[in-house]
Amino acid sequence: MDGTLRDNDISKVVEADRAHIWHHLTQHKPFENAEPRIIVEGKGMRVWDQNGKEHIDAVSGGVWTVNVGYGRESIANAVRDQLIKLNYFAGSAGSIPGALFAEKLISKMPGLSRVYYTNSGSEANEKAFKMVRQIAHKRYGGKKHKILYRDRDYHGTTIACLSAGGQEERNAQYGPYTPGFVKVPHCLEYRKQWDVENYGERAADAIEEVILREGPDTVGAICLEPVTAGGGVITPPEGYWQRIQEICRKYDILLHIDEVVCGVGRTGTWFGYQHYGVEPDMVTMAKGVASGYAAIACLVTSEKVFDLFKDDAADPMNYFRDISTFGGCTAGPAAALENLRIIEDENLLENTNQMGSYMLDGLAELMGRHKVIGDVRGKGLFLGAELVSDREDKTPMDEKKVQAVVGDCMAQGVVIGATNRSLPGFNNTLCFSPALIATKDDIDEILTAVDSALTRVFG
Ligand SMILES: Cc1ncc(COP(=O)(O)O)c(C=O)c1O
Repeated sequence: MDGTLRDNDISKVVEADRAHIWHHLTQHKPFENAEPRIIVEGKGMRVWDQNGKEHIDAVSGGVWTVNVGYGRESIANAVRDQLIKLNYFAGSAGSIPGALFAEKLISKMPGLSRVYYTNSGSEANEKAFKMVRQIAHKRYGGKKHKILYRDRDYHGTTIACLSAGGQEERNAQYGPYTPGFVKVPHCLEYRKQWDVENYGERAADAIEEVILREGPDTVGAICLEPVTAGGGVITPPEGYWQRIQEICRKYDILLHIDEVVCGVGRTGTWFGYQHYGVEPDMVTMAKGVASGYAAIACLVTSEKVFDLFKDDAADPMNYFRDISTFGGCTAGPAAALENLRIIEDENLLENTNQMGSYMLDGLAELMGRHKVIGDVRGKGLFLGAELVSDREDKTPMDEKKVQAVVGDCMAQGVVIGATNRSLPGFNNTLCFSPALIATKDDIDEILTAVDSALTRVFG
């Protein structure tokens, strides 16, 4: 840590924070007696807080975002150069980094062709919902307007996104919700809902049952995370995605994949859906797009979807009548272009696959020694360990104890995560998403801390 901010009297910063900042996802009462945490600096896999304490960050900025690690001067320089040349113009016009990043991104997404810029994952998902609704109005007399979402998935913070949110604790007290969103069951095999051999197909069939119940002519789209993130790091069972693709084609339902977490390398492919050979119509992404160096999110669609908004130029309403002011900021695509270059030049997808398997093996090894770990799962550097108080009946571990493990790791200088106020009674999964640059030593350090935390909390 270079100490610059400390010289500027960090205690003033802490007091300003305590007096005026409303932290995200936080109950503030404890700050009446304790200091809020302020992260002052980051480099590579590490961050330093206001007391100069070093932490290894196993969750890429808390919410799986800083995919290429902290302190990337080349991204800062790309953003700086672009801001001096042109910082902003509304997205009704194009920009140099906007066009160049779109071209680069599309080269990683065969079958898709159009990029719509926004500035958060929630907003990108809202744009997709709006497109579905507009298509329904223009083509189906408004009837094919329903959007399916899955139990345990999360698609963002706005009221419409919460209406598509499968996490009851996230949603609680924010209703009433937007009509036209319909829930389908989750696919977590560890918490089986059907006693069958081919679990993946069965879980997808459950979606077809909902479609038939609602009426296929009323369902316009289904929105799914490729691997559910905050709902417990849920990897899909064999056969699940193939069956979903068939169902979408059968009933002419648009497949919207929410890659806000999985997108841009996190799971070891450019996009999570690419593990499963599916062909989405719409893909949304945010966090890893520019690794948090600038705010940028994208909705990417197929040319077929795009054409539905231009094929009737005589209709003055037949275009996507939507704008996002900050979707026109050029810092986002400038940062995103450099972010992608880094992932390519440093072979970070390969590293993610190798280090992901190494970490999953390490978690499995911990599971062998700690009976409170009921299940470990994940893809690439996107991993979870579900804690239980009884392995046989899979009773979820008490949330306070799960949080105690997170707190113990933090005290050791290792930042890990856990499902948080997502699912009543099931906020019991530890989450790991180190930057894609993680080395074996980094992962060993993280696993060692988790090992001692589990020993201290559970004996
Ligand atoms: C899968 C998923 N979709 C959407 C969002 C919302 O993104 P944002 O917070 O950028 O609005 C999140 C945020 O955590 C997410 O995990």
